[in-house]
Amino acid sequence: MAKKVVGLIVGLVLFIGLPLFIKGLTNNKLSIGYNKGYMPDQPIPFSHQLHAGENKIACQYCHVGTEEVRHAGVPSVNICMNCHLVVKAGSPHIQKLTEYYTSGKSVPWKKVHLLPDHVKFNHQAHVLAGKQCQECHGPVENMETVYQHSDLSMGWCVNCHRQPENNASVNCGVCHY
Ligand code: HEC
Ligand code: HEC
Ligand code: HEC
Ligand code: HEC
Ligand code: HEC
Repeated sequence: MAKKVVGLIVGLVLFIGLPLFIKGLTNNKLSIGYNKGYMPDQPIPFSHQLHAGENKIACQYCHVGTEEVRHAGVPSVNICMNCHLVVKAGSPHIQKLTEYYTSGKSVPWKKVHLLPDHVKFNHQAHVLAGKQCQECHGPVENMETVYQHSDLSMGWCVNCHRQPENNASVNCGVCHY
């Protein structure tokens, strides 16, 4: 009898718990792009505060061509090695970085921002219109670890497009495929 009860309880826990657990996993994946504050752990603890803040390295020194391409992109290891062949070469983090470099691999940085596929966005139009990185990404130069500052919702995009001085379209077809 007691065994049956235990069996029933274990069964119930699995029956209710397992779907919830799976939902939790998929929710985590789906929430990228909508998750204001999202701050994944990175394979190497890269600090924007140290590089863009204290050392005043320009955003576009690393995020090359933001004004020309759709994706700003994250820098290749080559750019890091312009300095780190020498700077702090003895640090364990820089040694890890150097291993990626010498083996010709890229660092598997985790994406922080990601819009759904049905949305068109390009940096070029925004940067050419004079928008600063910080208007959308927040004070990155103060961030030890980069996180998603804006919610990237449709309302967020449309609100800014509606400002008369921006002279930007709110037609569905401008932002959607
Ligand atoms: C008008 C708002 C806006 C401005 C201005 C802006 N960004 Fe972005 N940025 C975004 C959005 C939205 C995404 C997500 C794009 C996607 O998932 O397709 C993004 C993504 C990125 C990414 C991730 C790689 C990618 O392209 O998906 C980097 C890096 C980045 N931005 C850097 C910058 C830098 C550097 C500047 C300034 C030169 C800048 N951004 C200006 C809104 C902006
Ligand atoms: C223009 C030069 C320059 C470039 C390019 C550069 N860094 Fe740095 N980095 C520095 C300086 C300066 C420090 C601080 C060194 C110190 O604390 O004495 C630093 C520190 C670091 C540290 C901390 C090391 C430690 O253990 O204290 C890491 C990690 C790091 N950089 C990673 C990177 C990565 C990854 C890239 C490429 C995306 C990169 N850096 C590109 C100049 C640079
Ligand atoms: C020394 C190189 C370097 C400089 C300078 C730099 N970044 Fe980055 N940036 C990186 C690297 C490497 C990553 C990927 C790792 C991470 O997310 O921390 C990144 C990631 C980002 C992301 C998140 C991309 C994503 O995955 O969605 C944004 C946004 C961004 N940077 C904006 C900026 C802005 C704005 C500036 C200037 C204030 C700047 N960066 C300066 C190297 C740099
Ligand atoms: C901070 C204000 C601001 C935000 C936030 C913003 N935009 Fe824009 N957007 C602009 C401006 C300004 C223009 C340029 C208008 C012009 O000069 O043509 C523009 C233009 C565009 C264009 C037209 C591009 C082209 O090639 O002509 C698209 C598409 C676009 N934005 C999509 C988006 C999407 C999607 C988002 C949200 C993820 C977004 N924007 C968020 C200000 C903004
Ligand atoms: C300035 C850019 C922009 C414009 C203009 C725009 N959208 Fe969107 N839309 C987005 C972004 C970004 C998302 C994804 C984020 C979200 O779901 O809020 C989105 C999401 C959506 C979704 C999916 C919502 C969901 O829950 O998955 C629908 C449907 C949609 N838009 C319809 C429209 C229609 C209809 C129009 C015209 C009246 C329009 N959009 C105009 C940027 C835009």
